[in-house]
Amino acid sequence: MKALLLAGGLGTRLRPLTENLPKPMTPVFHRPWLEHLIVHLRDQGIEDIVLAVKYHADKIQSYFGDGESLGVNLQYAYERQLLGTAGAIKNAQAMLGDTFLVFNADIIHHIDLQPLLEFHRGHRGLVTIGLTEVEDPSQYGVVQRTKLGEIIRFVEKPRREEAPSNLINAGIYVMEKAALDWIPESRETSIERETFPTLIENGMGVYGTSIHGYWMDMGTHERYLQVHRDVFDGKFPLRLSTPMVRDGVWMGRNIEIAANVRIEPPVVIGHGAVIEYGSTVGPFTVVGDQAVIGPDCSVRNSVIWPKARIKGRTQLSGAIVGHGFTVTVGETAAREELEAVMQ
Ligand code: GDD
Ligand code: MG
Repeated sequence: MKALLLAGGLGTRLRPLTENLPKPMTPVFHRPWLEHLIVHLRDQGIEDIVLAVKYHADKIQSYFGDGESLGVNLQYAYERQLLGTAGAIKNAQAMLGDTFLVFNADIIHHIDLQPLLEFHRGHRGLVTIGLTEVEDPSQYGVVQRTKLGEIIRFVEKPRREEAPSNLINAGIYVMEKAALDWIPESRETSIERETFPTLIENGMGVYGTSIHGYWMDMGTHERYLQVHRDVFDGKFPLRLSTPMVRDGVWMGRNIEIAANVRIEPPVVIGHGAVIEYGSTVGPFTVVGDQAVIGPDCSVRNSVIWPKARIKGRTQLSGAIVGHGFTVTVGETAAREELEAVMQ
């Protein structure tokens, strides 16, 4: 079965980190999330994958190419203009089979897809939506279903008090090709605001079933940091690309660590990183490849992207520092920079 990954959005809520990067390419433990996702799908036997791309599509294509190095076949469905979540699926129509999977590519998850596929086969709807429960559903698509699992209402981002339940669209669907007849050609269309409500209104068989396993939409700074924390806490089983050198400390190659440095686990440090005299790194911190933590700095509960530099005795906690940024709290200009990065 083929999978279509929706990876074309602007990633507005993750700015400025996504100013030059498609959201699914944001690094999660030294690899773009999209790479983890593709590997996870491949491990479940899904080797034919279509990427629906627009925003910085070149960065996705130049990184993955035809997918051979990851053991998958990748195809790209380009949009000349953003077509929205439904328009992007319609645009990829010719590359999809009779039944296919769709994923929002910014969903960090680790779920077994078999129960979802079996549910879809058993209920014979046009669409089966993977569902998960959250405390505040107002940032998501919220559903109401019958006991048999048919969705009778789908409301995208309702006010909290108007949400019909706490059960939300997890951004993972099994779809029949016939559902695409309900999506207009060549215009922007939202699957959440237009297609699902129309299919439901016309009784076309939209079902929902709960998914089981780790799930998180990484689309805000808080949730992006939470994903890292969850990996450290063992809630999300992610394969790290750096070996563990001692309990709770993972390190890449060619790392320079000066004297009098404190490494407080859990910590992951990427290839070629430099940790200078008197600094503290960790706990719950990821240091990107070739990042530099300057003398007497402290970095905790943070994610430092590759080639970033932390200088001037800066104390960071709960921060994300973007690719190549320099943070020096001692200078006013740099403080503004830091605020921009930390939002
Ligand atoms: N190709 C393409 N074209 N992809 C798009 C487009 C588009 O025009 N618009 C959005 N996407 C991609 C984004 O890149 C992202 O991976 C995915 O579609 C979902 O878009 P988001 O912008 O992240 O949506 P959201 O998080 O606000 O809401 C969606 O996800 C929730 C689950 O996290 C909705 O599907 C909600 O109903 C759902 O609950
Ligand atoms: Mg999202």
